[in-house]
Amino acid sequence: MPLRIRRKNLQKLFPWKTVIVSVVLLAGGLGVWFYPAPGVDVVAEKANLEADRWQAVYWKKPIPPQGEAPPNHLEPTRGLQPENCAVCHPDQFKGWKASLHGKAMGPGVVGQFHSMSFGGEASCLNCHAPMAEQWKYLLNNGKWVANKSYDPALKNQGITCAACHLRRHKRHGPPLRKNRPSISQAVHGEPERTPFFEASEFCKGCHQHPSTSLLVNGKTVENTYREWLNSPYPEQGVTCQKCHMPDRRHLWKGIHDREMTLSGVTITATIQPRQPEVGSKVTATLTLRNTGTGHAFPTYTTPAVYLKAALLDDKNRIIPGGFLEEKILQRRLNMSTSPWTEFFDTRVLPGDAATLSFSRVVPPQARQLYLWVWVAPDQFYSGFFRSILRRGNNRPGAREIEIALKNSINSQYRLFGRKIPIRPHNRTQQ
Ligand code: HEC
Ligand code: HEC
Ligand code: HEC
Ligand code: HEC
Ligand code: HEC
Repeated sequence: MPLRIRRKNLQKLFPWKTVIVSVVLLAGGLGVWFYPAPGVDVVAEKANLEADRWQAVYWKKPIPPQGEAPPNHLEPTRGLQPENCAVCHPDQFKGWKASLHGKAMGPGVVGQFHSMSFGGEASCLNCHAPMAEQWKYLLNNGKWVANKSYDPALKNQGITCAACHLRRHKRHGPPLRKNRPSISQAVHGEPERTPFFEASEFCKGCHQHPSTSLLVNGKTVENTYREWLNSPYPEQGVTCQKCHMPDRRHLWKGIHDREMTLSGVTITATIQPRQPEVGSKVTATLTLRNTGTGHAFPTYTTPAVYLKAALLDDKNRIIPGGFLEEKILQRRLNMSTSPWTEFFDTRVLPGDAATLSFSRVVPPQARQLYLWVWVAPDQFYSGFFRSILRRGNNRPGAREIEIALKNSINSQYRLFGRKIPIRPHNRTQQ
């Protein structure tokens, strides 16, 4: 059943003010919900419990201050800036810099901090800039006190190399590749090597809300790791890293990248008859199957993917009067209720498919049938940023939110498109 959305109306009905407040409250609450004990989140049999226990300790946040580098560490290795690591690890640096991990303190995040207490900001930094050196204050006996190790230049770097690899200056990393001796001893000491760097649990702390946090229609708001656990991929040894860090490359491409998104789905179209004709009926289907995405497609509540079919006139315009059909793939939350509820969840689970059906009698002005898939990776954020700006655009942070809004609109792209010519009406009936 195609689900038709009148977006303009939805925008008007949506109580954005309540949404802004509740988004901040949820994130603030996460600070409390985030670490239940040495946080073992027993999920399903497929979970790597050993890796899970390890990550709960390794990913204590904020990551405690690194302190002084050991004297035997040579100069560029002593600093915590990604640029320091880049001197000897240029490939990882290049990938990271272009990735969203390297941009995790972008204008959309930072622009919101102006209207928050540090406690609120800290709940965001947990995932967006998790090192103690990135925090202006640290909690001491329940009070935020000035942090001596604070480095404002590091703060803007987002999720740094050091956040994932350094604990008290000691390197941690995956097992050595086969048949390769390690030469790191000479520069910054032999890393602590653990297979847990290759486990999906490594990514869980920031990409999965704990089971003790808010459930909306039975699912946590961020639910990627669990969706993966419930898929066939864990048994096949296909971890987050296999798809998002192929051959250990630091890419982390996702829905913002067309090629990556294409690699996760198979899109097929059928048209009946093959050469549609004015005056007769045309029937088409557009099917998107999740054939290579290790979780729901898409996994978060923020993107939207649209399957669309329309009849176009001679100027490539959609013919008005009901000649467009669309189906939206998204998990859309209603954040104006307390607790939040779900408007709908039409995302496509691994192995499943979504189909848009289109059937019309072709009107005389039709020249083409157009089937396409449109991706808006930041659909939720565009509305969210607009609503913040509506409160006044000379408030602190408004400039950054304006940039973030522009970025969220520019990130949209067409994933798939097919145009089928319409034959003019054939007067000589056979
Ligand atoms: C002066 C050069 C230099 C700098 C600067 C440097 N490293 Fe290294 N690093 C090395 C060398 C050499 C190795 C060993 C590589 C090998 O064995 O192939 C290594 C190995 C590693 C490994 C283990 C990889 C493996 O499997 O061998 C990690 C993780 C790592 N470095 C992280 C970092 C991080 C993070 C930074 C910045 C905070 C950094 N390094 C800065 C030279 C450097
Ligand atoms: C979000 C966490 C994260 C960040 C940020 C990150 N890494 Fe890594 N890194 C990993 C993981 C996970 C692996 C192991 C991947 C695997 O085995 O599939 C790894 C592997 C490595 C390796 C070993 C590569 C190999 O081929 O054996 C090096 C060296 C390294 N990282 C350096 C860096 C540097 C330098 C940066 C910053 C420019 C960085 N990392 C940023 C998570 C991260
Ligand atoms: C549990 C980890 C986590 C916490 C806590 C968190 N985020 Fe995020 N955030 C993410 C992830 C993962 C993404 C990427 C997925 C997406 O776009 O929804 C993201 C994306 C974003 C984006 C869109 C991308 C961008 O850079 O513009 C914004 C804005 C953002 N977060 C702001 C915040 C703010 C503000 C807070 C605190 C109130 C916060 N986040 C708390 C994990 C987190
Ligand atoms: C310290 C928290 C943290 C860890 C650990 C982490 N991520 Fe992320 N990740 C984020 C945040 C925050 C964002 C969004 C940043 C933004 O857009 O502002 C993100 C973005 C991404 C994206 C891009 C999504 C898109 O919308 O295109 C991918 C893919 C991703 N992460 C995969 C991984 C994988 C795989 C791992 C484990 C190897 C991992 N992450 C570990 C916090 C983290
Ligand atoms: C079998 C390959 C595969 C595996 C395994 C996989 N992903 Fe993905 N992931 C994709 C593809 C393809 C996309 C792009 C399509 C999409 O957004 O769903 C994606 C998108 C994402 C995004 C972008 C945001 C969004 O709303 O879709 C994030 C974040 C992410 N993955 C994190 C993870 C994490 C964390 C894991 C492990 C728990 C993981 N992925 C496992 C293939 C995979």
